[in-house]
Amino acid sequence: MPLLSRRDLLTHLAQLSAVGAGALALPGCYGDSTYDLDRETATQWAERAAALEQGGVYTPAAPGEWAGKEAAHTPTATLMDMGGALTVKAFVNHVMTAEHWISGVYFRDQDNNVFFLQELSYTDGDPGAEKGVTVYAQVPAGVTAVTAFAYCNLHDCWRSETVSRAAAAT
Ligand SMILES: [Fe+2]
Repeated sequence: MPLLSRRDLLTHLAQLSAVGAGALALPGCYGDSTYDLDRETATQWAERAAALEQGGVYTPAAPGEWAGKEAAHTPTATLMDMGGALTVKAFVNHVMTAEHWISGVYFRDQDNNVFFLQELSYTDGDPGAEKGVTVYAQVPAGVTAVTAFAYCNLHDCWRSETVSRAAAAT
């Protein structure tokens, strides 16, 4: 009896390629970074992130007009080894409803370059959870520090603490 059905395997591979397609696009050169990222994708992500940040980027230390909303909006960023690939996990403990949701999560490296961006629907919340949304991305070689950003459709953009590659769990 096979451990994994053909359907499960195909689903798994599709999920893997969906992740890889974003983080590991065509080889190229992007700014001063040492990792490969398709220039067109990088430009789109950079422009999108800049647009999301137009209303400001908030942190628990500087919540601005959104004081009191820190816990639900500040993403956490955690580095981990997943099958030999350094991966960053972002989590935001926010509701995901049609009226109020986290509509985008992205990551910047030590040079402020965006190396992954994911648009989200309110239906993309963590399965089975009352609230919260999680996004994973592979960390490209050359990236030494990662900061996660989360955008709420009502409460603007929020930034995590920066985590360094040296702090990754091995
Ligand atoms: Fe919000």
